[in-house]
Amino acid sequence: MKPNPETLSSKPNLKPNMNTKTKSPAMKNSFSFIVRMARNSDLDDIMKIENICFGIEAFHRRQFRYALGASRAVFLVAETMGEKTIAGYALGYIRRGVKKSGKSAERTGAKNARLYSIAVSPTFQGMSLGAKLLSAIEAEFAAKKCARVFLEVHENNVAAATLYESRGYRQRGYKKSYYHDGGAAKKYVRSI
Ligand SMILES: CC(C)(COP(=O)(O)OP(=O)(O)OC[C@H]1O[C@@H](n2cnc3c(N)ncnc32)[C@H](O)[C@@H]1OP(=O)(O)O)[C@@H](O)C(=O)NCCC(=O)NCCS
Repeated sequence: MKPNPETLSSKPNLKPNMNTKTKSPAMKNSFSFIVRMARNSDLDDIMKIENICFGIEAFHRRQFRYALGASRAVFLVAETMGEKTIAGYALGYIRRGVKKSGKSAERTGAKNARLYSIAVSPTFQGMSLGAKLLSAIEAEFAAKKCARVFLEVHENNVAAATLYESRGYRQRGYKKSYYHDGGAAKKYVRSI
């Protein structure tokens, strides 16, 4: 059976070293990136980034493969100019809004997006690539008429929370024991 991405939670970054900015200004400026739609041939590189960034919390290959064929998915990669090294990815899904009234739930015309995961290879972190991928996926969501973007972040993931907060995301909730390590999720939303 195909995995159902709606049941996946967005993931914590459990690697403590990734919460510290270490890139020198010279290194920061030494790469240019393009962002494009992900393809099947990117899967190996995406999995490498995924496993390094998330360890046991990593999505499975089949979940990414499913996303590549899902019409509601927006799946982007960033690659370096020249060498064409896959340096990061962003994955989100679009869904119709649901308005609940009493026991009934009715689909509304409004569409929302959920950012499932964004990750940058450690080699390329601190070079504004996370921000670039976030802007790019937001632009895709906006082009597909989404009104808001929702996401969750592990309470200890300082780098990701700082990225989202600096880009206009506001915390709107907190889910206790959301992640496998027992950590809580901070829930964020942004209108686009
Ligand atoms: C979170 C992540 C995607 C950020 O990507 P990045 O390319 O390193 O980030 P950028 O260089 O684009 O930084 C953009 C902003 O994020 C924040 N930020 C990034 N790294 C940070 C860090 N280590 N500490 C604090 N803030 C940080 C800053 O606000 C930064 O803006 P600034 O450069 O103007 O100060 C990256 O650290 C990553 O892949 N982490 C592992 C996977 C992960 O945790 N994904 C998120 C799951 S919810």
